[in-house]
Amino acid sequence: MELDKAIQSRKSVRKFSNKKPDWRKIIECINAARYAPMAGNNYTVKFIIVDDKEKIKKLAKAAQQNFIAQAHYVVVACSNPSRTINSYGEKGKTYTRQQAGAAIQNFLLKIQEAKLSSCWVGHFVESQVKRALSIPKEVNVEALFPIGYEFEKKPTKKIKIDLDNILYFNAYSNTKLKPAKKLDV
Ligand SMILES: Cc1cc2nc3c(=O)[nH]c(=O)nc-3n(C[C@H](O)[C@H](O)[C@H](O)COP(=O)(O)O)c2cc1C
Repeated sequence: MELDKAIQSRKSVRKFSNKKPDWRKIIECINAARYAPMAGNNYTVKFIIVDDKEKIKKLAKAAQQNFIAQAHYVVVACSNPSRTINSYGEKGKTYTRQQAGAAIQNFLLKIQEAKLSSCWVGHFVESQVKRALSIPKEVNVEALFPIGYEFEKKPTKKIKIDLDNILYFNAYSNTKLKPAKKLDV
């Protein structure tokens, strides 16, 4: 799939069909996360594939979002900031969260390319997720991704923010690009 198509067609899906995805496809999508940039080339992100029904139920409960329980698979993205904090101090905490986002976006674009669907779930009780999956104390749970096939393919009708609203030139809030002064020659 073309990169633009994957970027523009990706959307959150919260209703899945009964069709079970091939776990090898999910692993291919996780593989793409390895190519994300990491400060000092220190890889901090880990992915857990969960297919145990009881554990998936616990994750849905931890997130208080029932649609998660319909999924055959849930991928849980985690990150361990220890080495990055050792290298960069407090900034290392920020880098760890940022690079989780970079790795996750690679993963989500590959999910789109594989014609699978997901939804980034960031609302959950972290201690409950950690308990369900034996995640160590020092590791952050970044997000949960229920994976499946969309129940009913709906045309995307997304109203996305205008480019004008996110773009400044040379200074924050400056919305006008002034042409560079011509040099007298
Ligand atoms: C950090 C983050 C946390 C999110 N948490 C949730 C969540 O807990 N539950 C949910 O249904 N959607 C969640 N979403 C999905 C957003 O609601 C969704 O991305 C947004 O409405 C835009 O829709 P789209 O993904 O279809 O473009 C989250 C997205 C992000 C990036």
